[in-house]
Formats: sequence, structure tokens, C-alpha cells
Amino acid sequence: MADYKNEFGWFAEKPKVEKKIYDRNKVAIGIVVFLVIFTIAFWKNLGKAVPPPKPALETAAIIKLPEKERTCVEDVEFMRQRHMRLLVDWREQVIRDGERYWTNSKGEKYLASLSNTCMECHTNKTQFCDQCHNYVAVVPNCWGCHLTKEEQVAKAEAK
Ligand code: HEC
Ligand code: HEC
Ligand code: HEC
Repeated sequence: MADYKNEFGWFAEKPKVEKKIYDRNKVAIGIVVFLVIFTIAFWKNLGKAVPPPKPALETAAIIKLPEKERTCVEDVEFMRQRHMRLLVDWREQVIRDGERYWTNSKGEKYLASLSNTCMECHTNKTQFCDQCHNYVAVVPNCWGCHLTKEEQVAKAEAK
């Protein structure tokens, strides 16, 4: 074990330090305990998926409709995918163009109104709209201004 030389000069040999992991077992246990605690929230949910939402369609207004007319303003697939877009279109045609009526793809005419059309059939906002929206965590801000059917009824009763 001699001193050694490099371009900077002579240096003493580095002291040999024994390679040792202290308390190897305790460290291992510590790591395992840490991992278990850290991931426990995931373990509890193992194999459990959040059930998909079941929006309730059975409102008095919908059940009252003759079976053949028990449809939405467009077909279900369209509504599932595009009701947000449709509502924005309705709002624009009412507010920008003053046109309060809207005709669907089958030629049927509807009043273009969130509270007075959608919510007249879907009177159960909490059981219907909110079911899906909570699932995907969207919170449409419409209800700060537009009344739900539940609110309309409460307001009328308070008069
Ligand atoms: C005339 C009553 C009526 C009106 C008005 C109405 N709906 Fe519907 N809606 C229904 C019915 C009935 C269904 C179920 C249709 C089916 O299963 O064939 C439905 C289905 C839907 C669905 C799909 C639900 C699902 O299970 O996937 C959405 C979303 C929806 N409506 C939103 C709206 C919105 C938004 C409006 C206003 C723009 C509206 N509806 C207006 C009666 C109505
Ligand atoms: C079948 C499930 C379902 C039902 C029932 C449903 N929605 Fe939605 N809604 C969605 C989804 C999913 C989105 C988010 C779409 C996106 O972010 O692209 C959404 C978004 C919206 C938005 C746009 C929100 C935003 O901030 O962008 C509005 C407005 C809306 N829904 C209104 C309604 C109303 C009113 C009803 C009840 C009459 C209703 N929805 C029922 C699934 C549903
Ligand atoms: C700051 C208040 C406010 C908010 C928030 C709001 N609106 Fe409106 N909305 C209005 C007013 C005011 C009118 C005009 C009412 C009229 O002339 O009948 C209107 C009209 C509409 C109309 C046409 C008329 C009717 O009876 O429905 C639609 C459709 C509509 N809004 C959809 C929406 C949707 C969907 C949302 C949420 C994404 C929303 N609005 C959020 C204030 C608001």
C-alpha cells in the first residue's frame, strides 16, 4: 500500500473502509412497513372499481308519456355524447338570435329551454344529471342562475 502519484502530485492511499450496512434487518423491515403504510389506500381499493353511474329516467313526467314517445329530444346516443353542446347551441340561438324554438332531426319542435324543456321531463336533477356529473367530476355552473324543477316547485310553494 504505497502512496500514489497523479498529475497533481503524490497522494496517500485512501484508507480502506469496510463496506457494511448497519442494522440491515431493521432497515429492511422499516422499508417494508413504510411501503405498506404508504400504499394502504390503494390496497383497500384492490379489485374494486367505482360502479358506473345509473342515471334515473323514471320521473312522473316521463312515465306519463305514451311508450312510443318516451324518447329524449334526440336519440339516446346523441344525448349522451352531445347534450352539453346542444345546450350551448340552444343558449346561443335564444340569446343571440332571439329564436326560442328548436327543431330536432325528426322535425319535432321544442322550446329551447334548459329549465322549461330538459328539466320538465328530467325533474330529478339529483338522480339524473348529477349522477353522471359526479362520476366524471364535472360541475356545470348553470344552476347558479337556472332553476331546476325541484327549485321551481319549492319556490311556487313558498308563495
Ligand atoms: C320529452 C321528455 C324529455 C325531454 C324534454 C328531454 N329528455 Fe332527456 N331523455 C328523456 C327520455 C325518455 C330519455 C331516455 C330515452 C331512451 O332510453 O330511449 C332521455 C335520455 C337522456 C339522456 C341519456 C341518458 C342515459 O341514460 O344515457 C340525457 C343525457 C338526456 N336525456 C339529457 C337531456 C337534456 C340535456 C335535455 C334538454 C336539452 C333533455 N334530456 C330533454 C326524456 C326527455
Ligand atoms: C349519461 C350521463 C349524463 C347525464 C344523464 C347527464 N350528463 Fe351532462 N355531462 C355528462 C358528461 C360525461 C359531461 C362532461 C363532458 C365533457 O367534459 O366533455 C357532461 C357535461 C355537461 C355540461 C357541460 C359542463 C361543462 O362545464 O362543460 C352540461 C351543461 C350538462 N352536462 C348538462 C346536463 C343536464 C342539464 C343534464 C340533466 C338534464 C345532464 N347533463 C345529464 C354526462 C351526463
Ligand atoms: C350568470 C347566470 C347564468 C348562468 C351561470 C347560465 N345561464 Fe343560461 N341564461 C341566463 C339568462 C339570463 C338567460 C336568458 C333567459 C331568457 O331570456 O329566457 C339564459 C338563457 C339560457 C338558455 C335559453 C333559454 C332557457 O330558458 O333556457 C339556455 C339553453 C341556457 N341559458 C343554458 C345554460 C347552460 C347550459 C348553462 C350552464 C353551462 C347556463 N345557461 C348558465 C343566465 C345564465
